[in-house]
Amino acid sequence: MPDLSDVGQSRRTFMMQTGGGGIGLFAANLLATESALAQMAPVSGAASAPVVAQNVVKVVFKVNGAPQALALDSRVVLLDALREHLALTGTKKGCDQGQCGACTVLVDGQRVLSCLTLAATLQDREVTTIEGLATGDRLHPMQAAFIKHDGFQCGYCTSGQICSAVGMLGEAQRGQVSHVTENVGKTTTRLSNDEIRERMSGNICRCGAYPGIVAAIQEVHSGRQAAQTWGFATETQLASAKKEDGHATV
Ligand code: FES
Ligand code: FES
Repeated sequence: MPDLSDVGQSRRTFMMQTGGGGIGLFAANLLATESALAQMAPVSGAASAPVVAQNVVKVVFKVNGAPQALALDSRVVLLDALREHLALTGTKKGCDQGQCGACTVLVDGQRVLSCLTLAATLQDREVTTIEGLATGDRLHPMQAAFIKHDGFQCGYCTSGQICSAVGMLGEAQRGQVSHVTENVGKTTTRLSNDEIRERMSGNICRCGAYPGIVAAIQEVHSGRQAAQTWGFATETQLASAKKEDGHATV
C-alpha cells in the first residue's frame, strides 16, 4: 500500500503550484487587458462618455398635448425617449422587456408598452403619459380612485396601472372581448371584477395592491361610489398612538 501522507503532500503541493500558476496567469491577463483598455481610452473619464447615436431619425409627435420634435437613434424606445429626452419620469422602467406593464402609456388612446415601442414609429401620433392625465390640479377620475381605494403601496407600478386601466376601459367600451368574456357575441357593458383582473393581468404589482386596484377601476367603470376605508389620522389619534408607543417601550 502506498504511503498516504506522501500522496497527500504531493497533491497539496500540486494544487498550490497549479493554483498559484493559474492565479498568476489570470493576473497577467487582467493587467494586459487593463493596459490595452487604458491605451484605447482617448481621455480621462472615457467610461462616462456619452453613447454616440447611430442612424439618427427625426420624429415629431405630441406628448400630453404638446408637439415634440426629436432626433433620436433609431433604436430608442418610447420609454427612453420620454424619460431621457423629455424628462417625463412618471413612466417607469420595470423589466424593460414587455413583461411587467410598469411602462404603459397611451398612444392615440390605446395602451401600449413603451419599452417595446420604437419612438421612430410614432410620427404624428399622440402620446399620453401619467403626467398628462390630470387637468391642471384636478386629478383624472382613475387617479383619484386609486388614492381613495389605496390602490398602491410603493407606487412604482402605479403610473402604468392607471394608464393601462384608462386604456382598458376604452377597449371595453369599444366592445373588445377578453379571455374571460362569457358571451363574445354580446357587447360587454358591465365588467365584472374577474374581467377587470383578466384585462389588467399584464400589469404586475409587486406590492400586491390588487384588491385596491380592482376596486378603484370598478368604481370608475360602474360609477358606483364605494366608501373610503381609510383616513388620515387626526392630531389626537397621533398623540395617543405616540403615548401608547411610549408605554410599550418602557
Ligand atoms: S418595463 Fe415595459 S413591460 Fe416592464
Ligand atoms: S405599488 Fe408597489 S409595485 Fe405596485
